[in-house]
Amino acid sequence: MATRILVVGGGGREHAIIASLARNSDAELYAVMSRRNPGMSGYCRDMLLEKETNIHAVSEFARKKMIDYAVIGPEAPLEAGVVDLLEKEGIPCMGPTRAAARLETDKAFCREMMDRHGIAGCPRYRVFQSADEAVRFLESHEGDLAIKPAGLTGGKGVRIMGEHVDRKGAREYIRTLRSGIVLEDRLIGEEFTLQAFTDGTHLVPMPLVQDHKRAFEGDEGPNTGGMGSYSMPDHGLPFVSVAEWNAALGIMKSAVAAMEEAGTPYRGILYGQFMNTRDGPMVIEFNARFGDPEAMNVLSLLKTDLLAIIEKAIEGSLSQRDVRFVKKATVCKYLVPEGYPESPVTDQPVTAGAYDPALLYYANVEEKDGILYTQSSRTMAFVGLGDTLGEAEEIAERAASGVKGKVRHRRDVGTEALLKKRIDHMRELR
Ligand code: AMP
Ligand code: GLY
Repeated sequence: MATRILVVGGGGREHAIIASLARNSDAELYAVMSRRNPGMSGYCRDMLLEKETNIHAVSEFARKKMIDYAVIGPEAPLEAGVVDLLEKEGIPCMGPTRAAARLETDKAFCREMMDRHGIAGCPRYRVFQSADEAVRFLESHEGDLAIKPAGLTGGKGVRIMGEHVDRKGAREYIRTLRSGIVLEDRLIGEEFTLQAFTDGTHLVPMPLVQDHKRAFEGDEGPNTGGMGSYSMPDHGLPFVSVAEWNAALGIMKSAVAAMEEAGTPYRGILYGQFMNTRDGPMVIEFNARFGDPEAMNVLSLLKTDLLAIIEKAIEGSLSQRDVRFVKKATVCKYLVPEGYPESPVTDQPVTAGAYDPALLYYANVEEKDGILYTQSSRTMAFVGLGDTLGEAEEIAERAASGVKGKVRHRRDVGTEALLKKRIDHMRELR
């Protein structure tokens, strides 16, 4: 009998999730998304076009369609409690409850949890309930700080002194924030992403990925949701040693154990964003879901049936043996509207050229009469797979530069030159 799976969300990440699930011929697929994703709709038996945070509509749709399992893509419905509601209805989810998702949705909770359980990789931090208090701390503090609103900001709320703002700019920025302000030491190093499947007890890691947050080439410009990402054939990164990789994995395992101990077990995808520093990997943040774009790198490599992994996670019997990835490099490049993220030009037609053998994942586009139009967020992404990073990059770059329309992408994602810069930077720090 077919297994009915509901995917919540409609971006590039969810397109990759549903494409991966569709490789199991017994999977019958459904989706809830706010706008019809033209890449996802072909896989779906039925869809509900509705805000993903309208969790009552999601649960009603799931009940009507007799859904067996749900996979939650974005963080907003997790924060709204979609998993709690679906599980009350008897529908197990790949995604944490609202309480467990606080690991992402409340940065103060995350740091306090790490502190309380003595988890490695936590920078020095302070939590403030008012801008006044936070500014006072800033004035008395030497050294650069990372300034973070405790709640969700779509990846756009963090300001780093010495990078985005100077001391004066930091003070002004803090004044715009309300209660729940986290100030922590600025970490220096190279960032990497470690995602893992977890059933609440066992944790199975996926290949390491490096994302590119900044809008422009050479890591210039404002932070975005992520402009592109790459991974290596050996599933590591050349600026992360095996010991550092293991340390990061240990931190993730400790976080899952701490959540279980606290009575809020964490099931789903755990995403660790790390800064590899001179003193090893430090946690920038945890996310309660796949990364976007990082989901497209790892899911394009996944050899194992994703549905089988989800079933094991829900049973609580997840094991490393059940999860295999192809040993290839991946490069993912996002096309974004011109002007993104500050003033994106929307409703502009875009057309992809011939992109084979790249994989295409759609994100924030609207299809009208067979023509695609940009919206305000990231438009679509191409993933190249190759035996080397260079091969994967060439495939992704050729596909991305073949797109016509008022969109742009970062040409430097996944290039040898950029990788060399990362390696040199890390060598300098050590
Ligand atoms: P977040 O919204 O937490 O993902 O943070 C956005 C970006 O801010 C991260 O990708 C990092 O580049 C940067 N960041 C966050 N925390 C720190 C920190 N403590 N030190 C340096 N950079 C940071
Ligand atoms: N790529 C970063 C994120 O998904 O939050």
